[in-house]
Amino acid sequence: MSDQAITFLLNGEKKTLEAVSPTKTLLQFLREDELLCGTKEGCAEGDCGACTVMVSSLSSDGTVKREAINSCIRFLPSLDGAAVTTVEALSTNRQNAHLVQQSMIEAHGSQCGFCTPGFIMSLYTGYRNRVSLRYREACDLLAGNLCRCTGYGPILKAAENIGIQSQSGDQKAEQEALDKNEQLALAELRQDSSLTVKYAGHRAYVPRSIDELAALYHAQPEATLIAGATDVGLWVTKQLRDLPVVIFLGKVTELMTIEKNSEALTLGAGVSYADAHKVIADLYPDFGELIRRIGSEQVRNAGTIGGNIANGSPIGDTPPALIALGAKLVLRNGSARRTIPIEDFYIDYGKQDRAPGEFLESIHIPNPGSKDVLGCYKISKRFDQDISALVGCFNIRIDKGMVVEARIAFGGMAGIPKRASATEKALLSRPWEEKTIHAAMGAIDMDFQPLTDVRASKEYRLQAAKNLLLKYFLERKSQPDSSRIVGYKSVF
Ligand code: FAD
Ligand code: FES
Ligand code: FES
Repeated sequence: MSDQAITFLLNGEKKTLEAVSPTKTLLQFLREDELLCGTKEGCAEGDCGACTVMVSSLSSDGTVKREAINSCIRFLPSLDGAAVTTVEALSTNRQNAHLVQQSMIEAHGSQCGFCTPGFIMSLYTGYRNRVSLRYREACDLLAGNLCRCTGYGPILKAAENIGIQSQSGDQKAEQEALDKNEQLALAELRQDSSLTVKYAGHRAYVPRSIDELAALYHAQPEATLIAGATDVGLWVTKQLRDLPVVIFLGKVTELMTIEKNSEALTLGAGVSYADAHKVIADLYPDFGELIRRIGSEQVRNAGTIGGNIANGSPIGDTPPALIALGAKLVLRNGSARRTIPIEDFYIDYGKQDRAPGEFLESIHIPNPGSKDVLGCYKISKRFDQDISALVGCFNIRIDKGMVVEARIAFGGMAGIPKRASATEKALLSRPWEEKTIHAAMGAIDMDFQPLTDVRASKEYRLQAAKNLLLKYFLERKSQPDSSRIVGYKSVF
């Protein structure tokens, strides 16, 4: 296999692409080059799910990972070594409709049909991953697929039927046969050398080790790093930005590691939201719930914790929680590493403490103390698939009725995710009682002068931030040692 051509499987057939634009999207390739027009373009920004396809890849332990992703914001080089399945692979005629398609027909889950291939592919990925597709699970799975015609009732009914039917012997045999073939085909595609794609003055690198990435970026600090592309994808599809040199992080296995020891949880910067959720939800249930509400299944499969931190957005969901937890970032430049508290990374709006050629390698989150209870609250206009108006995260230690430690951080209240120092000061060494809380609520005015924008007015943001502190207090009063989310298990 060439180290200058992108190789992947498309509906089981091997594709080798040389001299292709590194920021060509998978959706463009499917519709324009392959004429596979079942996959639709609705928004071209990851919001509607009409472009959903399944991407399967071989993990380092040899198991296959299958994910629904938005093909409209997925660039081709990131697919090297993967298998793409589009709706055409299920069935193109009604007589041989796949169980997933047949269930949608029977439940009247399609009217205009524009959204339908996306729903089918989200459901199909759930079917292949043996998700049981009961109501709650189906809601999580389909939150990134929008339909303006049927309403979601019939589609959820179809999902339920797929969940039930997939338990039959025939379906299980089909799933096992598909899994086996896919695993063998992916193993044949596997290669360990890095990839370089050159096209009309553009260059894309797909390194396969952290040292290689460090050397590449150190030598070419002008390059754009691309992790899940849930931000960078939109720079191309919406802002029409030209990115002459790009480095894809998705094949650097060291960036995907998750390690837990007696002191801390360490996440590689390339760990996806979906993978991070699996460990974080157990340790910090509120933080898990915050991650469950980031974007949609497709966005959580692609987007990474490192990308969420590095993009420096004041309304990114994970930084306030990580600040409240006292997380530290490991930044790497060439062979040099430095470790800084995450709050020091954010200097000003659009400005982070990151030198040219330096990238985020990992995130260390100290283990919770026995008296720590993290509370995280996301306020957005919709529950799913919506950017926060504000996020408030509270980690307050109480001993013998007194506040002995307080770490509070907000997103959406300033130009950066920011710690509420005056509020913390108003709580420290004071009794944990309502009077203290009301005094501390007043201190929030000293910490923040928020802006009015489409998501909320400055008055709303200030009042909501204060109310969240009170909410955290009242919840802990009734449940002193655990978060309100304890006992709740997400299913994605
Ligand atoms: P990319 O898009 O690949 O990169 C983002 C930025 O980070 C780029 O500047 C890139 O160069 C840089 N970068 C990436 N990795 C590194 C690294 N290791 N070191 C240094 N720089 C790096 N965000 C939320 O917080 N909450 C939401 O609810 C939410 N909903 C969304 C819904 C949709 C439909 C979409 C499209 C996005 C949404 N986002 C949301 C934003 C997005 O998911 C996040 O900002 C995401 O974390 C970016 O991660 P990524 O891996 O996709 O980063
Ligand atoms: Fe809307 Fe891709 S076209 S999510
Ligand atoms: Fe028309 Fe869903 S059937 S948008």
